[in-house]
Amino acid sequence: MRKSFFAFCALALLTFTGCTQKPSMHPTDEPFRSVYHHTPEANWMNDPNGMFYDEAAGVWHLYYQHNPYATVWGPMHWAHSTSKDLIHWEHQGIVLYPDSLGTIFSGSAVIDKNNTAGFGENAIVAIYTQSEKIGQNQSIAYSTDGGYSFTPYEGNPVLMGDIADFRDPKVTWDGDHWLMTLACQQEIRFYASPNLKEWTYLSSFGKDLGAHGGVWECPELLKMSNVKSQISNEKYVLLVSINPGGPFGGSATQYFIGDWDGKEFVVESQKSKVESKWLDYGKDNYSSFTFHNSPDGRLVALGWMSNWQYACQLPTVAFRSQNTVARDLFLFLDDEGEYRLGSVPSKETMALKGAETKYLPDAGIVELTLDGSQDALITLSNDKGEKVVMNLDVHRRTFSMDRTASGDCSFSHDFAARTVAPLFIKRDTYKVLLFIDHCSIEAFDADGAWAMTNLVFPSEPYNHLDVQGGEAKIYNVNI
Ligand code: FRU
Repeated sequence: MRKSFFAFCALALLTFTGCTQKPSMHPTDEPFRSVYHHTPEANWMNDPNGMFYDEAAGVWHLYYQHNPYATVWGPMHWAHSTSKDLIHWEHQGIVLYPDSLGTIFSGSAVIDKNNTAGFGENAIVAIYTQSEKIGQNQSIAYSTDGGYSFTPYEGNPVLMGDIADFRDPKVTWDGDHWLMTLACQQEIRFYASPNLKEWTYLSSFGKDLGAHGGVWECPELLKMSNVKSQISNEKYVLLVSINPGGPFGGSATQYFIGDWDGKEFVVESQKSKVESKWLDYGKDNYSSFTFHNSPDGRLVALGWMSNWQYACQLPTVAFRSQNTVARDLFLFLDDEGEYRLGSVPSKETMALKGAETKYLPDAGIVELTLDGSQDALITLSNDKGEKVVMNLDVHRRTFSMDRTASGDCSFSHDFAARTVAPLFIKRDTYKVLLFIDHCSIEAFDADGAWAMTNLVFPSEPYNHLDVQGGEAKIYNVNI
């Protein structure tokens, strides 16, 4: 009787907390726990939120969508991590909890240098969606201790939704006022505000443009001046995550290049109107955002390294999800004269490159030099015969990654996949960087023309590297 009562209590507790899995080991002991990618200490994580850089303290702040009760999506909170180098992260706990206005969905944060909102000079103001059963509205909260704790504004919500999907505000300073990009079903709306509290509708973007296979989420308008590869006339890029409808199934981040006149975003070229452009050509880089106030006018981005198709089924135990390495975004012209958004590993990420080694470490960096006149085949494998096969196809001008035999793919029929990136620029020699961690491979054209992020779950680390059609140098990670 007593035993069954305890069993009942345990079951009730599990049901109440929504827990579907019990951690069976210390969270840091898990074989798939990333060594140099940000992961939650325990339980569920999705989108990076509210990222900003505190220049005076030299600290990068990262908040994220978090369910503290289970390793699957559930009641969303904002949890907080900080880093001095974008490699080592300190967990700072939860800063925003669900309240009577709803759970805490994705959003952004700004440093209010001029005290426009009246919370104090240099207050950190978070702008986020509150989701409740009947709709989604935008709220704000402020921090006067540099982003370590937040107080929700008593006048919330500051922007009421008028349709079902009305979320993910990313706020930037646009000359003399605040500008918000907001995902509204399959369009992006722009709103302006003098004080972060009162918002005026400006315009909508996206009808009949780009990919529309799913709902649009997590938008951001990027001003592409004063960054790597300066291009003389100022352009803007609008990042829009989409789920489903990505090029390899499930979620992915598309982008549009155009002009911003203070009120409307207008796509620049005929090609941009018909073609969907993708930030990343793998399956696992979603809801990518840049850090507000990144140093030197850089656009430093992090994405959620997962895909809604299988994010809740990934074979980790005490935690779920990780973020990509930090990348700098910039514009370049491809061989056909079309502007493209490039991404290179940020200099903070490149600082990971440790000593050259002969042996493939379980977390390392590989630098490939591939001859542009012939195809190349790159195979990462382990003693169990699990492998990831990459191919540079110089005739089709593509780089591909096949993870169909990479290890555990059994948890979802959507996981086994081969992803393909266009090379965009013809080169005599292709330099490719591979960032390998315990459950991920991020491949980059070393000059940033394309990036490809894919998760992998080998039953033991890959310890062989075979390169046909080029050479490889292997580096330890320096942490
Ligand atoms: C994107 C997203 C957002 C939403 C959040 C909820 O991954 O669906 O649109 O705000 O996740 O957790």
